[in-house]
Amino acid sequence: MNELVAITGASAGIGAAAARKFAEQGYRLALMARRLDHLSEIQKAYPKQISIYELDVRSSDAVMNVFSQIGPVDVLINNAGVGFGLEPAYEGNLEEWDACVETNVNGLLYCTRAALPSMVKRDHGHIVNLGSVAGRYPYPGGNVYGATKAFVRQFSFNLRADLLGKNVRVSCIEPGLVGETEFSVIRFRGDQEKAKTPYANTQPLQPKDIAEIIYFCHCLPPHVNINTVEVMPVYQASAPLAIHRT
Ligand SMILES: NC(=O)c1ccc[n+]([C@@H]2O[C@H](COP(=O)([O-])OP(=O)(O)OC[C@H]3O[C@@H](n4cnc5c(N)ncnc54)[C@H](OP(=O)(O)O)[C@@H]3O)[C@@H](O)[C@H]2O)c1
Repeated sequence: MNELVAITGASAGIGAAAARKFAEQGYRLALMARRLDHLSEIQKAYPKQISIYELDVRSSDAVMNVFSQIGPVDVLINNAGVGFGLEPAYEGNLEEWDACVETNVNGLLYCTRAALPSMVKRDHGHIVNLGSVAGRYPYPGGNVYGATKAFVRQFSFNLRADLLGKNVRVSCIEPGLVGETEFSVIRFRGDQEKAKTPYANTQPLQPKDIAEIIYFCHCLPPHVNINTVEVMPVYQASAPLAIHRT
């Protein structure tokens, strides 16, 4: 196997774990993120297999430029994503909402549009999108972030509809709480102490758990398409319906 796997947001968390998993298995990798120094740390262990690209997925020009340098990819893991704050929508910060939509929605669209034509032309490929249980189950403060992840799931399904008859697979992975990532630090705007609170006294999923799931989805026989995987730690469940009583 000499497939090329492109991963956005490979500088931390789930993306970095997926990069290591595929590299261990001998795949070639194109890793993208804004922090090139983090990517080069991963590259050091697999210099012959990994190439790295500085990329902010919010810029369509930058995405098209980087993908033209990478060339045809066999697997695209659309992983770059952010969420900011847990304020109710009526207190939301518009700049942060823009950044969330531009990264989780627009960035994913640009990368998909850049990678897909060569997959269709070669009748071979796999797109793996990182959604979230936040796109399925509402929770207080999940407003815009959850909505972007609902977009990711529906866009994944719609891609399959467009790709029917082609040997291009699309999978949407929807994790619950994943620890050992920078997600919470970003969500709480750099407040390291607050960032620990979602993981206190519980056992979250680990980035490598999600990397294993992505790898599993990819290694199934080519006629098998996993549409979605919803995965939570055993210590998490979807919230019951809420009723406010006076
Ligand atoms: N952690 C969780 O509990 C959880 C649960 C469900 C779903 N997810 C989803 O899983 C994905 C990975 O999250 P994670 O938990 O691994 O978070 P993370 O540790 O914060 O990693 C996020 C990655 O996205 C990259 N990124 C952010 N903005 C970017 C931009 N504008 N352009 C390019 N890259 C960008 C970051 O790299 P740079 O900063 O270097 O650019 C980083 O590599 C996200 O889509 C997230 O929504 C996470």
